[in-house]
Amino acid sequence: MLDLGLSLLFAIPIMVSNAVPAILGDGFPIDAYKNFFDRKRILGDHKTFQGLITGILSGFFSGVIVWIIVGDFMLNQYSYIGFHFPFWIGALMGWGCNFGDLFGSFVKRRFNLESGSSFPVFDQMGYILFGLLWSWIAFRVLPWVFWLTLLIIAPLIHITANRLGYLLKIKDVPW
Ligand code: CTP
Ligand code: MG
Repeated sequence: MLDLGLSLLFAIPIMVSNAVPAILGDGFPIDAYKNFFDRKRILGDHKTFQGLITGILSGFFSGVIVWIIVGDFMLNQYSYIGFHFPFWIGALMGWGCNFGDLFGSFVKRRFNLESGSSFPVFDQMGYILFGLLWSWIAFRVLPWVFWLTLLIIAPLIHITANRLGYLLKIKDVPW
């Protein structure tokens, strides 16, 4: 139960930096309207600089808050595997999650999927996977329970959050 709680706290910056671009993202697209070799958009209109930057910043700030509240506890709990939990970890997760998001759009465009269309499985788990992956790449250690719980729980949270966002009219589509 403790592991479960800690993995959820650990993932807060990933979830925040995944949600924030949908609310604050707008403006100039990262691919500058350019096409890839296949003459389809590289990323599409929905991936903007404003979304990327607000995503990483919100990941950073929410990470600092999590670090202040449970940083020491987290380190103690997993010190036996040499776990790292620096105050800036949220920026890393924010980058990881948004990198994953851009990667997902890149793949979608290659498959001719319109911006905003649903991309099953990746939509629900991609950001968590990439957020975790980047913190793993940086530190080479991540408690295995984090992978387990987050990859199972994330899709459930994601689906609920998006339904809610849609009902509250923050999101245009329920996925
Ligand atoms: N968004 C943004 N900049 C980003 C990421 C997201 O502005 N780097 C905003 C866009 O307004 C986008 C919304 O967040 O429409 C939802 O993001 P997401 O679901 O990741 O994108 P999709 O609309 O599904 O577009 P795509 O098909 O390219 O994945
Ligand atoms: Mg989408």
